Amino acid sequence: MYFKRVLKIVFTFKKYFMLNILFSVLYAFFSAVAFLSLMPMLEVLFNGINKINEKPTLELSSNLGDFIENWLNYQVSSFAVDDTQKAILFVVGIVVILFFLKNISNYFALFFSTLIRNGVIMNLKKSIYNKIIILPLKYFSKNKKGDLISRMTSDVSEVQNSFLSIIEIFIRDPLTIFFTLGAMFIISFKLTVFVILFIPLSGFIISFIGKSLKRKSLLVQKEQAELTSITEETINGIKIIKSFLAESFFKSKFDQTNIRFLNFSNKLINRQNIAAPLSEFLGILVIGVLLWYGGKLVLIEMELKPAAFITYMGLAYGVLTPAKSISKAFYSLKKGNAAAERVFEIIDMTSEYYNDLNKNKLKSFNECIEFKNVSFKYDKSSVLKNISLKINKGEMIAIVGASGSGKSTLVNLIPRFYDQISGKITIDGTDISNLSRLNIRSLIGIVSQESILFNSSIKENIVLGNSDSRSNDKLLNSLSIANANEFINEFQENINYNVGDNGSNLSGGQKQRIAIARAVYSSSPILILDEATSSLDSKSEKLVQNAIDKLMINKTSIVIAHRLSTIQNADKIIVLDKGEIIEEGSHNELIKNNSIYKKLISLQSFS
Ligand SMILES: Nc1ncnc2c1ncn2[C@@H]1O[C@H](COP(=O)(O)OP(=O)(O)O)[C@@H](O)[C@H]1O
Ligand SMILES: [Mg+2]
Repeated sequence: MYFKRVLKIVFTFKKYFMLNILFSVLYAFFSAVAFLSLMPMLEVLFNGINKINEKPTLELSSNLGDFIENWLNYQVSSFAVDDTQKAILFVVGIVVILFFLKNISNYFALFFSTLIRNGVIMNLKKSIYNKIIILPLKYFSKNKKGDLISRMTSDVSEVQNSFLSIIEIFIRDPLTIFFTLGAMFIISFKLTVFVILFIPLSGFIISFIGKSLKRKSLLVQKEQAELTSITEETINGIKIIKSFLAESFFKSKFDQTNIRFLNFSNKLINRQNIAAPLSEFLGILVIGVLLWYGGKLVLIEMELKPAAFITYMGLAYGVLTPAKSISKAFYSLKKGNAAAERVFEIIDMTSEYYNDLNKNKLKSFNECIEFKNVSFKYDKSSVLKNISLKINKGEMIAIVGASGSGKSTLVNLIPRFYDQISGKITIDGTDISNLSRLNIRSLIGIVSQESILFNSSIKENIVLGNSDSRSNDKLLNSLSIANANEFINEFQENINYNVGDNGSNLSGGQKQRIAIARAVYSSSPILILDEATSSLDSKSEKLVQNAIDKLMINKTSIVIAHRLSTIQNADKIIVLDKGEIIEEGSHNELIKNNSIYKKLISLQSFS
């Protein structure tokens, strides 16, 4: 049960929690007493003022109910003397004041529980986000974005609606029942024993229905996530959907999920819907039995005054409302648990940095990166086989090979985007599995084929939060190295120009130059360029290639290139085929032999 874990978060708001309890107690107390205060009013209506001139004293033998009644009557008598109007005013005044106190306590109880609720929600969202951002990459290739997003949004609000409202109910309502029952005992012991026998009975019947609720609500959540996923994919790929006339395909995909969602949630909600009418009916059954039994006490056995009985009925009905909400809370508990399970599943994932704390840190990169018999697989089949490779400081290494041959995978192992390799990779002689990921990544700048830009200004996209006093000069310098000045100067907002969603306000070449400026700005000694120019037209390719050449000066770089002309002056060219290195050497060495590289070159110079 995840309720306990949510409670733990609730308890971090100890002060609000205590205040909530305090005001709940006051609320419960005043609810009972306010109702009780109607009794003398009714008494006055039925019988006129019952004058008592002697102050009553409470003795062990006396009945508490009688004592309170006598005491009130004494107060009324001494205040109003003989004036009936004054007496009515006095009684009404007490009623109004007590109801006022009840409601103001209720407000404050709600006030503090709101602070707790929203605090817990903020806390959960923060935990999820903080976990998402440190999850290993392999998590994201297996899971859908929509699923993550719906855990963050709809599951969190379900936890809010189900669990946190229960917390209120579990504090306030039992107290209300306690005080109201107390008041009922004061009026009539016999009748109250009767009521107590009925309440658990109706509770049992109601909780009986809620059994399959958890499973159903899990199904509903799952379909909700699927809906979010499909919608998101559609929005992202709307251009492709339109140009390939795939609208109806996506519509029917969406409809199928949507209909499943409809069916599951109809079933779920209708099961919940039974609760309210059923408990209302059970409630009226209890009231009916009470009327019958109480009527007997009033009219036949003359044990109870009519005014007391009417007040009593009011109190009894007042017990039913919290009793109903408590039994409803058991539903919510199940529903909330399913949502909380999905929320905590993310929160409980191990971060990719969990064992990085005591790892070594390199201050700088001085010698070389070395692959020693490295093999790697994502799932079952090997993607890299027995790779051995040395990259000295200051060198430029190029990797070529057919698409799918494992080039990107190879470079992604260096920043430890993926672990569990066999063999080892070292930087300056230290096995990277003994280095903290943050440390390795601080040494590496990456420019990939699809430039990832965030929806904010050019400046923010480059700086990514790493700014200091010198950052403005550094930024301008990065932009000029990246050949980005010429187009940025055309924007009125200059570096504050907003690039749009995933950079959609910029052309491909412009985006890529921003990505290069980002790598320059980070001034990491090692560069990884994964087909940085392959998605560009030839004019912007030239601009970007020129920027890349400037970027690589004085750096150690690993370049994956689709255009072989750009890598002819690489210190070493590696040809990958199906995850294996089949050739390596400089351009001149490779071109001499009758190599695969030579064939690749001649193929490209034709096209
Ligand atoms: N995240 C991933 N999960 C599973 N398989 C992957 C993943 N990324 C790439 N692959 C597979 O690994 C192989 C090599 O991919 P990749 O390194 O991207 O090749 P290249 O960059 O040379 O085109 C391909 O067969 C591809 O399907
Ligand atoms: Mg690739």
